[in-house]
Amino acid sequence: MHHDPSSPIGIFDSGVGGLTVARAVMELLPNEPIVYFGDTARVPYGVKSPDTVARYAAQITRFLLAKNVKMLIVACNTMAAVALPAITGLSPVPVLEVIDAGAASALAITRTKRIGIIATPSTIASRAYEQALARLGGPDVHTVSKACPLFVPLVEEGWLDHPATRLVAAEYLGPLRAHNLDTLILGCTHYPLLAPLLAQVVGPGIRLQDSASAVARRAAAILDARGLRHCGGKPVHAFHVTDLPHRFLDIGQRFLGQAMADVQLETL
Ligand code: DGL
Repeated sequence: MHHDPSSPIGIFDSGVGGLTVARAVMELLPNEPIVYFGDTARVPYGVKSPDTVARYAAQITRFLLAKNVKMLIVACNTMAAVALPAITGLSPVPVLEVIDAGAASALAITRTKRIGIIATPSTIASRAYEQALARLGGPDVHTVSKACPLFVPLVEEGWLDHPATRLVAAEYLGPLRAHNLDTLILGCTHYPLLAPLLAQVVGPGIRLQDSASAVARRAAAILDARGLRHCGGKPVHAFHVTDLPHRFLDIGQRFLGQAMADVQLETL
């Protein structure tokens, strides 16, 4: 397969949440065409088994490679946590993912190396963030993890600043207070949309960190190193989903922060 700067970047997620990553890539690399895939028929992945998530991830990888993408970005923390070998094993193009990037960003801002991680149950069970933090930050990194399964449906519902969400957040995050954290990793595509509310719940001493802008910076560096950065011209983005394109369009504009062109319905 031949790639040149005009080839698109493939970004994928279990659904609409990965658009928070697509948004960061579009902001940093405004000339890059993006092919986005959201598996809206089978979301959420965060409560499914690793084998199932790996099978779905392989299907999406094949779909995007057939679109001649020059790079793959795994925007979904759950896929990055439990299905990375299934993706990299198929891909002749570079694969970037959110967990390594998020862990590195958290280590760059922490002063005390006391870091909390909130994510889906599958991501937490995989311990992928803990492993990345230990590998990149050394043995004295102290981590505390908490699965927050109700956040995804609350965000999908648009309850970004709602009393019910505040109540759930206080329940999930309350126990983290005892750990004297200075950094909290938002280890799920959806959580950046809750950042204002979460910041109020955890209080001023804890900085929130997500992976989106770090992944975008890594993408830029790799494209530059390979001479594949696209310069000039307004790119055309493509969006593909496996169910309910209209719902994706409605909710997606909130994640993307801009209007979205057509959304294609696909069967894998
Ligand atoms: N995209 C998933 C993640 O970042 C959240 C939604 C899901 O559970 O599929 O972990």
